[in-house]
Amino acid sequence: MESKLCDLFGIKYPIIQGGMQWLATPEFAAAVSNAGALGTLNSSLSKSKEEFVEMIRRTRSLTKNPFAVNISMLPNQPAGELTLDFLSAVAEEKVDVVELSGTDPTPFVPALKNAGIKVIHKSPAVRFAKKAEAAGVDAVTIVGFECGGHPGMDDVTTLVLIPSVVDAVSIPVIAGGGICDSRSYAAVRCLGAEGAVMGTRFVATKECVIHPNFKELILKATERDTGIVQRSIKNAARNYKNPAILKLMDMEANGKPTLEEILAIVSGKRQKECYETGNIESGAIPMGECAGRIHDILTVKEVIDEIVTGAAKLLK
Ligand SMILES: Cc1cc2nc3c(=O)[nH]c(=O)nc-3n(C[C@H](O)[C@H](O)[C@H](O)COP(=O)(O)O)c2cc1C
Repeated sequence: MESKLCDLFGIKYPIIQGGMQWLATPEFAAAVSNAGALGTLNSSLSKSKEEFVEMIRRTRSLTKNPFAVNISMLPNQPAGELTLDFLSAVAEEKVDVVELSGTDPTPFVPALKNAGIKVIHKSPAVRFAKKAEAAGVDAVTIVGFECGGHPGMDDVTTLVLIPSVVDAVSIPVIAGGGICDSRSYAAVRCLGAEGAVMGTRFVATKECVIHPNFKELILKATERDTGIVQRSIKNAARNYKNPAILKLMDMEANGKPTLEEILAIVSGKRQKECYETGNIESGAIPMGECAGRIHDILTVKEVIDEIVTGAAKLLK
């Protein structure tokens, strides 16, 4: 099925790997790009501009195909110094595609466009998508309430959100939240999306560097096993309901935990330790509701091939 995203990004299939903290490594992004989709490198893996440049170059050495870089920012906060460093690095390295998320992209778009970079903005709402279009981005990624990670504060599901954004903007829309196979991919193409982004499905792949315990967790999870935390700080996040997240859900339902109390559970440092050691009990494990529909650990290529061939049959 044709898509404007293939021409825009120079890719074979309009399937995008979400920029997942700690997991979207050069090797992983390259595996996705080599399979004909758009791999994404996560800037948060780097602690300095030099390290980040090194990661971009390593990815480029592993694939001849285009890849993206995700730069996630925090809402309602000015960009930290490292964010500005990352932005200048992607411009200097002439990265193919940059995905921004978490805050208004307006101040950052002109420099990226001047460097010839295609810019995606990821957002969970019609109003933010319109703002991103006005800022000059090339495409928007829109994630519904089912998604792993940050679904925004409005609780609007993919089935309603995607066609609403498609009707509201003229730039291509990439749908996310709940997509994990040919059926869900075909569904969002029917809703008007030009392609899809997936996070949870890509965690359950052979190439993902996460500890095997987490892949097993996805296989065992049902559609009821994820929940939302961080509403109290207006940064809602969908995670697997392990004991740590259940505790935080309880704290938020029965009071207003301090930022320190929240960070003690969801900090990136703690998450990284869990991913490495296989500790599934503590820390935040972003996971979408579609975990309940994932029953096998496949290679990245097998995931992409099933979507492409299956969706072609369904859409015919
Ligand atoms: C383990 C994991 C980590 C994620 N980390 C990030 C991140 O650092 N930045 C970001 O913009 N999105 C992040 N996401 C969200 C994904 O990029 C994508 O938008 C989302 O997973 C799509 O929903 P799905 O999980 O239903 O496929 C993460 C998702 C998962 C599952």
